[in-house]
This record gives sequence, structure tokens and C-alpha cells, in this order.
Amino acid sequence: MIPDVDNDSIVYINGQYVRLGDATISVLDRGFIFGDGIYEVVPAYNGKPFRMDEHLARLQRSLGAIGIQTGRSTADWKNLVQDMLRRSGLGDCMVYLQVTRGVAKRDHGFPKHCEPTVFCMVSPFKRPDAKAREEGLTAISVPDVRWLHCEIKSVSLLGNVLAKQQAVDAGVDEVVQFRDGNLSEGASCNIWVAKDGVLLAPVRNNLILEGIRYAFLEDLAAKAGVAFQSRVITKQEVAQADELMMTSATKEVLPITTYDGKPVGTGRPGPVYAKLRAGYDQAIAAL
Ligand code: PDD
Repeated sequence: MIPDVDNDSIVYINGQYVRLGDATISVLDRGFIFGDGIYEVVPAYNGKPFRMDEHLARLQRSLGAIGIQTGRSTADWKNLVQDMLRRSGLGDCMVYLQVTRGVAKRDHGFPKHCEPTVFCMVSPFKRPDAKAREEGLTAISVPDVRWLHCEIKSVSLLGNVLAKQQAVDAGVDEVVQFRDGNLSEGASCNIWVAKDGVLLAPVRNNLILEGIRYAFLEDLAAKAGVAFQSRVITKQEVAQADELMMTSATKEVLPITTYDGKPVGTGRPGPVYAKLRAGYDQAIAAL
């Protein structure tokens, strides 16, 4: 029995549908041995996937970036996601997809013949509650010690795991990571700054995972008449922000109101957040 999960839920593993509690992989799976694989998290509301095309395009990019060929088209992935959503019968939930290079004799170089391992599960997800929306989250700054290919949604997440544990140990919700004095991202989210009414986000490059909410928030900002800039953001700018926000598939968009033990701006969720949150809620309602 795995604690805190629905062991009876049905997962997909290499073409088979099995109970989560019964699903197994080989000890020689390269995902287990090397972290040699990628993943995606597609949120769904009322059983309907949100921004699925964008998530699946990133899945294909991640696969391409590490040279895994599955022979599956985007339409195949879409069918798998829809099928798993139907089977789960869940309303608000997230579809987790993982692909590893497969099972082979342990050897660092890519094996000549290897069938990728494909795994999919659907788990219930609780939308951010009133407290998180109205009071905001707490965060601390930490150095970004990760590798130089953060743009790949890789399952090699040790750097992210260790960063998140620093938040847990400090009793806060998130970390804000800095590389060479500049903002990168959270442990499992993108970080946003608002200053003088302008929404700022770090440059899209190899130092961050470009969240599916990156382009989405850009779009929401444009619709709400909020100016947007993608540029290098220093540690000092983050410390002096009027507003800080985070985005991810499961957290949607949330304000960070305490940063390194101090209030951000007024210490309350700000006007830029309010506009983005309203647009976000509208997009979900329109699904
Ligand atoms: N994490 N940056 C990192 C390092 C992430 O792990 C995530 C998402 C994001 C935001 O991406 P998106 O908006 O596409 O969710 C940014 C997922 C949710 C996870 O690992 O569970």
C-alpha cells in the first residue's frame, strides 16, 4: 500500500491499465537508474484538460531534446490523456505523463535497442483555496544549484527536490532561486515580479522551465492592459518588488506576500495579481 494515494486508481504503463498499487517497472529502467526521462503535468477541470496542446507540444520538445523516440504522434498523446481522464472519472485533476528511455543493461551511453517506458496516472487536485488566494504564500530566496538544461522537463529533479526541501525546512511555501544574482524560478513553478504596474518575468532560456502559464499570463496581461517585459531580473529587484507571484499547472497563479521574512509591497495580494487571477478564473470557467 502506498500512503496518501488512491491505490485502486488505474494507471497506464506501456499499453497496460493496472491498479496504481500493483504497477511496477524494471529495476533497470533508465528513469530509475539515471533519471533518464521526461515528464508532463496537464491540469484538468471538471474532467476537461487545460492548455493540453501546449503541454503536449512541450512533451514532444522534451523528448526531442534528449533523443527519445516513442513513435507516438501528438494525436496519440491526446488520446491517451483523454482516455485516462475518462477512465478516472475525476473532475479537477492532473494528468501526469512520464517517458523514460526504457530498460537496458546499466551503461551511461544510450542503448542501441531500447523501448521507451510510458507511464500515465491521473490524480485529484485541489484548486488553490481562498486562504492562498487572499493571503498569499511565503517564500525564501535560495541559490540555484541546478544544471544548465532547466528548459527540459526532465525527471532528473534532484536540484528541484533539494530546493523545495529548503522551503519545507524553513516552514515556507516556496523558494525563489537565483543564479549569478539573477532570478531563475521556483522549485516547481515560475516566478513573476510586478513593479510600477509592469509585469516582469525572467528571459525564456536554458536557465528556466518555460511554464505553460508563461505565454498564458503574457496573454492575460495583454488582455488586462498590463505591460509585460521578459528580461533579466536581479535579486535586488525581487526584494523591492511591488508584487511577487508564482505560476504552475497546479498552483495556477498565486501571490507571494512574504519574501525572506518581509512583506512584499503592502503585504497583501496586489492589483496586477487580481487582474491575472480574474483572467485565469474566466479561462477555466470557459472550458
Ligand atoms: N512543475 N518551473 C519548474 C521547475 C516546474 O517544475 C514547473 C511545473 C514550472 C511551471 O510550469 P507549468 O506552468 O507548465 O506547470 C516551472 C510541475 C507542475 C510539477 O513538477 O509538478
